[in-house]
Amino acid sequence: MIEVQNVAYTYADGTKAVNDVSMTFPEQGIFAVMGLSGSGKTTLLNCIARFLSPKQGEIILDGQDIQEMKEIDFRQQVGVVFQHLNLFPHMNVLENMMLALERVQGKTKAAAKAESLEMLERLNIAELAQSYPAQVSGGQAQRVAIARGLALKPKFMLLDEPTSALDAATTSDFARWLRELQAFTSFIIVTHDLPFAEQTAEQGVFMESGQVQERGTLAEVLKNIDRC
Ligand SMILES: Nc1ncnc2c1ncn2[C@@H]1O[C@H](COP(=O)(O)OP(=O)(O)OP(=O)(O)O)[C@@H](O)[C@H]1O
Ligand SMILES: [Mg+2]
Repeated sequence: MIEVQNVAYTYADGTKAVNDVSMTFPEQGIFAVMGLSGSGKTTLLNCIARFLSPKQGEIILDGQDIQEMKEIDFRQQVGVVFQHLNLFPHMNVLENMMLALERVQGKTKAAAKAESLEMLERLNIAELAQSYPAQVSGGQAQRVAIARGLALKPKFMLLDEPTSALDAATTSDFARWLRELQAFTSFIIVTHDLPFAEQTAEQGVFMESGQVQERGTLAEVLKNIDRC
């Protein structure tokens, strides 16, 4: 479980991007952090991913303050896939996946290769193993980036706007694929794509101006923001 407690983040120019936010991400399932552009979603995600340090409040992962965790322990438990996917362009999909296992978990090349191939197989994208990032579609690149993160077997996987490059049909396929992956990890999805959130998440929050405006099941949240 991740508990975000009264977290605030203000940028150097004085922008209060996240303003006293609290929420709990359950151990299981898919949780959506929704909101309009500029509402503070990515800033909050960056605090949870430890790329930014909150100016106020705590983020607790299974009883431990994330600020006090060792980098290597933290990175193995919480995976992140950014809006811009950062797959290495000069490596094929398989090599991109192996790198994380070799660098972060110290696996040998052979072990990293076997595990990566197994993961690609289990995620039904084995046919992409030898392709380079420039040769795969946006939707496939999203899947590869998530597969790479999942290879480390994190407890939580944070995804920032995973559908931003996808059309509606690809988004639906991707949503179905993510739901199937719930057995592997818990997803926290940051998105302004409400139909996508509705197709994937059970629970969520809707943020506005750095604060949580609505929270609850997806149906409740969507109903309440509709009324505003
Ligand atoms: N590096 C930065 N320096 C100053 N202000 C920033 C910085 N990054 C974001 N902001 C501001 O903080 C606020 C929240 O931005 P954030 O990127 O968290 O929003 P968001 O909800 O992720 O938006 P989007 O849906 O467009 O990705 C906005 O007002 C934004 O302009
Ligand atoms: Mg954002």
